[in-house]
Amino acid sequence: MPIPIRPARAADRDAIIGMHVTMSRKAYGHILSDYYFAEVLPAEKDKLWSERFAGPVDPERLSIMVADADGVLAGFTSAVFDPSDKWGTYLHHLYVGSDFQRQGLARRLWLAILDTFPAAFLDTPISLLALEGNMPARALYDRMGGRIEERILAQYPGSPDTPVLRYTWPHRDELRQKLAPHTA
Ligand SMILES: CC(C)(COP(=O)(O)OP(=O)(O)OC[C@H]1O[C@@H](n2cnc3c(N)ncnc32)[C@H](O)[C@@H]1OP(=O)(O)O)[C@@H](O)C(=O)NCCC(=O)NCCS
Repeated sequence: MPIPIRPARAADRDAIIGMHVTMSRKAYGHILSDYYFAEVLPAEKDKLWSERFAGPVDPERLSIMVADADGVLAGFTSAVFDPSDKWGTYLHHLYVGSDFQRQGLARRLWLAILDTFPAAFLDTPISLLALEGNMPARALYDRMGGRIEERILAQYPGSPDTPVLRYTWPHRDELRQKLAPHTA
């Protein structure tokens, strides 16, 4: 039976923070500084998710989906709907726990979150930012037809300037088509 995917609840906050911190270090440990992982990132993620879950999530502005493996967080993703963002919907996170990777869960999390897009964001672009050196994530985005729109040099505390790539898709249906299992 596939792992169920559902909207996140406030009770998921700590598990999301835990996975965000742990998986970031695993995925970017070779790119960003030990100082960043020890001193900056945990507090940054705690603040982000505490703010997001401080009140009810406004579905016109934000969507957060989790994969819930019998009470164990297997993965999560989020999307930010900001009409003033020229790049359109921002796919803000996509994280899958080590024990659950390469089973199609990232693909299913994205398919699920696409279904939550508000009407005003169905035909607008989608974008995300990925560290240039995060090759597994880039393999996924390339496979899903993402186009690299720009390369930015980002500043992370304790690290030299770090290249970040912006991937884009023209609209929801194009990404959905790439995610569909028959394209595997
Ligand atoms: C990137 C990540 C989300 C992928 O999650 P996943 O559930 O393993 O991905 P899926 O199983 O849905 O993979 C879909 C396709 O993406 C590609 N892909 C995914 N992981 C890959 C990897 N490690 N190497 C090469 N290709 C990969 C493959 O084409 C795969 O299809 P296939 O398994 O049929 O070959 C996961 O590795 C992760 O959480 N990484 C750490 C956090 C992170 O870097 N997030 C992205 C931040 S920008």
